[in-house]
Formats: sequence, structure tokens, C-alpha cells
Amino acid sequence: MRFYVIFSFCYVLYLTTPISGYSGGAPSSRCDTMLPGHGPEPQKGPSPYKVVVRQTKVEPSGIIEITLTSNSGNDEFKGFLIYIRKEGVTNKAYGEFDKTNDDAKTLDCFNVQNNAMTQIDGHPKSSVTVKWIADPRTVEEGEYQIHTTFVKDKNTYWTNQVHDEVIEVVPPGQAPDEHPDGHHGPHWEQDPKTYCSSMNLNPDADSKIHSDDNPYDINIEKKENVEQSSRIWINATSALDTPIMRLFMQVRRPGSSKMAYGEFVKPAKGAEGMDIVLVDCFGGKGNAVLFTNPKHSESTTSDVSFQWMAPGNETGDFEVVSTILKDENTFWGVVGKDLQTKIKVVPKNKPNPKEQRSKSASTSSTMSFSTTVGLFFVMIFAAASY
Ligand SMILES: *[C@@H]1O[C@H](CO)[C@@H](O)[C@H](O)[C@H]1NC(C)=O
Ligand SMILES: *[C@@H]1O[C@H](CO)[C@@H](O)[C@H](O)[C@H]1NC(C)=O
Repeated sequence: MRFYVIFSFCYVLYLTTPISGYSGGAPSSRCDTMLPGHGPEPQKGPSPYKVVVRQTKVEPSGIIEITLTSNSGNDEFKGFLIYIRKEGVTNKAYGEFDKTNDDAKTLDCFNVQNNAMTQIDGHPKSSVTVKWIADPRTVEEGEYQIHTTFVKDKNTYWTNQVHDEVIEVVPPGQAPDEHPDGHHGPHWEQDPKTYCSSMNLNPDADSKIHSDDNPYDINIEKKENVEQSSRIWINATSALDTPIMRLFMQVRRPGSSKMAYGEFVKPAKGAEGMDIVLVDCFGGKGNAVLFTNPKHSESTTSDVSFQWMAPGNETGDFEVVSTILKDENTFWGVVGKDLQTKIKVVPKNKPNPKEQRSKSASTSSTMSFSTTVGLFFVMIFAAASY
């Protein structure tokens, strides 16, 4: 009986303790170890996550963009912590992170302001880009290392990963010029978000965009009476087996390039050895898709299918726009041209949004309930063996 009282007490305590595992971001006290402070031991195997840095040389006061993402482009993470260190110096983090970021917030490590960044919330994300400023107050010329912790979920995380990408702070005038619109470096290493507006997959090949002789076709499963929130197949093919090396696709309003609609849904079907990356364009979620061969690989396909979910809150005319790269320097902007890529979205017959909302709410409460019950049994077990 007494045990039971203790269990109940623990149980209540458990319920009232935040179990988020710092879903709102790591606290400053974690700067030292980079441990998220929850769950079992960190993972020992290789991390599925990486950082992408387009340009590693920076002048004092210059900015470096660092994208936290996964090796596959598909593995999501819920949390992270990043800071910049000097090899051999353990009690300091250098420079300053830009506070204006939708996915991340700054953290003060080792009593210095804004020298680290962490997630804003615990939602799964496939990439987050942060800006690091080589603030001359704490940064001098030399080499700096990027340290990260990635949290996949409450129990799975890789801590204090030191990346091969080394930031080099160079004297003024010696860093390569930043292209004004941020396009530089090998295009396959760019954050796919840079394609959202221009849809230009290789800025170095500007003059080579082919406007005619398009060898590709876009087949759309259903174009009329597409109900809100319903899913349709959008397939890219080539009758002539012309290879698809990369492809970027969105659904826009005809004539507009400021917004992308609906959501692409994994999994898509395509050739083995290709990566499919859902891209968050214009502040939305998964409203664009990048299909690409992994870095340095020669993989191509001539046939790929995506599922697209129509927006749940808009109706009317949309069109599928895509850019397809045949090889490094040859690509086609397939913006509707001669292809019937218009889609008409109509309201749903039944008032389903409400139903869906309550369904998703009950799923999440079931999940947290089962976690809670699970822990309760662990406590009973522990006490029983005690
Ligand atoms: C698109 O691809 C899917 C999956 O491969 C297939 O089931 C569907 O029939 C294709 N639709 C069209 C219109 O080509
Ligand atoms: C539809 O929902 C998206 C996000 O889910 C939002 O960004 C957009 O503004 C909404 N559109 C309308 C017309 O409410």
C-alpha cells in the first residue's frame, strides 16, 4: 500500500514535470557537455546529420550560413545545439549568431551573449539554416570548428559532433565575394530553399536554360475537381528516356512566383540512389520537392512520381511548375509551357477539416498517454525488483 502511494506520487510528479526534453531549446547549462539532458546515453555510431556550409572563408564581421541537415536529406530532427569553437579551447564559444530566425533562437553560452543556437520548438525538421557572424569582439583570424548536437527524438541523439567543415576567418579583403543574392559555391550544396523563388537549380548555368525542345512530360493524375486535402500523383517522365539528374517542383497560382501551395508527401517513387528532399518554401511546410542525385554521384532516372496533397484551405486554379536538370549545365524550366499542368481545387464535399483536427488531437494524446503508462510500468517494475 505504501508503495502504491509512492507510485501515485511519482506518477503525479511525472505528469506535472515537463517531459519535452527541452523541446523549446537547450538551456545554457547544457553548453558545456552539449548533452540535451534527457534520455539515455548519446548514440555512439556515426551521426545521420551533417552541416552544410556554402562558403567557409569569412572576414571579420562577415557572415557564414550554416545549414543543419541530414546526410540523406530526409532524416528529421527535433532539436539541436550549435556553436563555434577553436580547437583545444573548451570553455568558450566564438562569434555571434543572427537572432532573426524562424526555426532557431540564440543562447548565451559561457556567459557570452548569442554565441550558440538551439531550436525554438520540438517539431521535426529536415533542415535549419543559421547565420554566424564573425564578430570581431570575440573572433580573430584563424580556424574555427563547428560543434553540434542533434536530437532525433527523446532517446536518440548525437552529441558534440565536430564537423570537417572548418571556418577560416581571414584578413579583410581576402574572403571570396558573396554573390548578392546568396548564390555561390557548388549548386548541389546549396540550401534547397534558395531555389524556392527562382527555381534556378544551377545559377552558373543561367545562359543555358533551354526553353524549347523540352524532352520531359509532367503527368498529373487528376486535374479537375481535385478536392481540398486530397492526394494526387504528379509524375515527371521522359518519352525519350532523357535522364533526370535533379528536379525541383512546386504548385503555384498561375502567374505568381511568391507562394507555393499544398504539400508534397513522402514517399515518392523514383530511381534507387536518388534523394528526395521536401523543401519549406515561402514560410510554408513541404510545399516544394527536390529530387536529386546525392553529392558527387552520377545517378539519374527518367521517371519519378510524387504525391501532392491539395491545400485544405484554398480552392481554384493552380499549376505545377518544375525545373529539370539533365546534366550539370543543361536544364529546362518546365513552367507550364505546352504542358497541361493546371489543377483545379474544389471544396471538400463533407465538412471534414473539423473531423481531421479532432483525429490528430486524439492521436497525440494517445501517444503521450502510452508514454505515461509505459513509464508507470517501468516504475512498478523498478519497485518490484527493489
Ligand atoms: C504516376 O505514378 C504512380 C506511381 O508510380 C502511378 O500509380 C500512376 O498511375 C502514375 N500516374 C500517371 C498519370 O502517370
Ligand atoms: C492556408 O493555410 C496556410 C498554412 O497552413 C496558411 O499559410 C495560409 O495563409 C492559409 N490560407 C488561407 C487563405 O487562409
